Amino acid sequence: MDTALKIAVSGKGGVGKTTVAALLCRALVESDRSVIALDADPDANLAAAIGIPFDDGIVALASMQELIQERTGATSGTVGTFFKINPHVADLPEKLWQEKGGIRLLKMGTVKQGGSGCICPASAVVKAMMQHLVLYRNEAVVMDMEAGIEHLGRATAQAVNHLLVVVEPGMRSIETAHAIRALAGDLGLTRISLIANKIRGKADEDFINAHADGLAILARLPFDDNFMQADRQRLAAWELCPEALAAMRAACARLVPPDMG
Ligand SMILES: Nc1ncnc2c1ncn2[C@@H]1O[C@H](COP(=O)(O)OP(=O)(O)O)[C@@H](O)[C@H]1O
Ligand SMILES: [Mg+2]
Repeated sequence: MDTALKIAVSGKGGVGKTTVAALLCRALVESDRSVIALDADPDANLAAAIGIPFDDGIVALASMQELIQERTGATSGTVGTFFKINPHVADLPEKLWQEKGGIRLLKMGTVKQGGSGCICPASAVVKAMMQHLVLYRNEAVVMDMEAGIEHLGRATAQAVNHLLVVVEPGMRSIETAHAIRALAGDLGLTRISLIANKIRGKADEDFINAHADGLAILARLPFDDNFMQADRQRLAAWELCPEALAAMRAACARLVPPDMG
């Protein structure tokens, strides 16, 4: 393998990662790809952004205590006991995903970290799942992440073929983007580009261009109040924002898997 797109979306909180991930999933489905949307942000709301209006019923993988115990041989949260750090997960995606409009959503949930390098049974299962999805599945995978990408294991990071860092026209999110770029380099994740979001005009575009510092800008998405409107009406992010979706479709066409160019 592997010619499937494996895309991680990162960036500072509030810049529009979840919105971008949702638009991307939609654009990929429209181009006839099988898509897995992976919500890897503890502050999870990708389900709502793809139009699953009441996602309270979706249990995150990290909270499935019985499953975690079964797969690792230990109870979630256990400290100081032995458990499998490479649990079997290959059978889980189709059992756990929730499908909406052709997008298959998997929610990872929050994993308590007990310090750097620490691994607990729940995080072992989450890590194994993320690694499995990027290394061994044929679907396109879109990962909605938090700003940090350091919890991506090295094998997972290297299988990600595009890291998209969302920025808005302000210095703080751009500084975060450059910090993420440095981390990505350390992990061996080399294809990285920016999504310039919340663009209200040429000045916004110019500001991001001026501070991109060599990072390619894959797409520019307009500021659109209808994103909030869609949220209020419990609609998918693309439903009321055709302009942003069109920009994402064009970006998608440029996202080729690595061995195809
Ligand atoms: N292009 C945009 N125009 C207007 N509002 C946007 C845009 N992108 C995102 N938003 C809004 O900004 C807020 C944060 O977006 P979200 O995607 O949840 O960010 P993140 O996942 O990075 O925290 C949401 O209310 C969302 O509707
Ligand atoms: Mg988010």
